[in-house]
Amino acid sequence: MRHLIDILDFTTDEIDALLDRADDIIANPEKYQEVCKHKKLATLFFEPSTRTRLSFESAMLSLGGSVLGFSEAKSSSASKGESVSDTIQVVSAYSDIIAMRHPKEGAPLVASFRSGVPIINAGDGGHFHPTQTLTDLLTIRREKGRLDNLTVGFCGDLKFGRTVHSLISALSRYTGIKIVLISPDELKLPTYMKTDVLDKNNMSYRETTDLVEAMKELDILYMTRVQQERFFNEADYIRLKDSYILTAKKMESAKEDMCILHPLPRVNEISVEIDDDPRACYFKQVACGKFVRMALIMKLLEVEA
Ligand code: CP
Repeated sequence: MRHLIDILDFTTDEIDALLDRADDIIANPEKYQEVCKHKKLATLFFEPSTRTRLSFESAMLSLGGSVLGFSEAKSSSASKGESVSDTIQVVSAYSDIIAMRHPKEGAPLVASFRSGVPIINAGDGGHFHPTQTLTDLLTIRREKGRLDNLTVGFCGDLKFGRTVHSLISALSRYTGIKIVLISPDELKLPTYMKTDVLDKNNMSYRETTDLVEAMKELDILYMTRVQQERFFNEADYIRLKDSYILTAKKMESAKEDMCILHPLPRVNEISVEIDDDPRACYFKQVACGKFVRMALIMKLLEVEA
């Protein structure tokens, strides 16, 4: 039985095959309408979500399966003190596969030790978000036609941004990747990401606080929200939350074919005037999320079209 806790649980060939399958689902959705008939997906969300939970549910319904679950810890018996381990042993008796989001780093990994069915990490604290990464990779490949030889700028909250950590890990598998880390000093990429991923894989990277200075070299600009829910101090959040706001003026030095991504939700970091720019790909990215999660569910349930 396979789980997806960290994007590096999959080989590069497995990731590429998932993206190929997602492309085929987009081209031929009718082929996949019943492949998960009689299968049940449980979505256990101990933290808020719009895209991840609903795209998982939409994905399973589009494969002919069913969904059950909860969208907040307080409507589950976690609010009475039930452990993750016990919750998972219960829910794996009711479902064939589980997508789980939890505020504590490592909770989905703990769940995978006690589960009788595949566990998908749908985001664990400020750690990882591997299915967002599959979404990001599919979007990049569809927009740029490749996953190598790209200069990727990550801008905003690189400390708590779990989507950033997972995508950098995944990009370490591809060649010719240059990373530009754009953040305030307080929200820099954690040291473990630099030593265990960037340095270990000899990846080219640099750090800057200046988005405009970095803009002209980027093929991809990955904007992120400052993660209010991870701050211990409200004053720090207020001081840092609007560190970067992407505007049409700042886009003047960007490449004509630069691709702007954002895992969403957006707060202020991308001005709505950018939404009409053909380089704004974040709503296409949202759509990719459903198709790649369909491919992932099929892989973990070992079903074929
Ligand atoms: N990108 C993402 O994880 O969005 P949600 O928090 O809405 O699921």
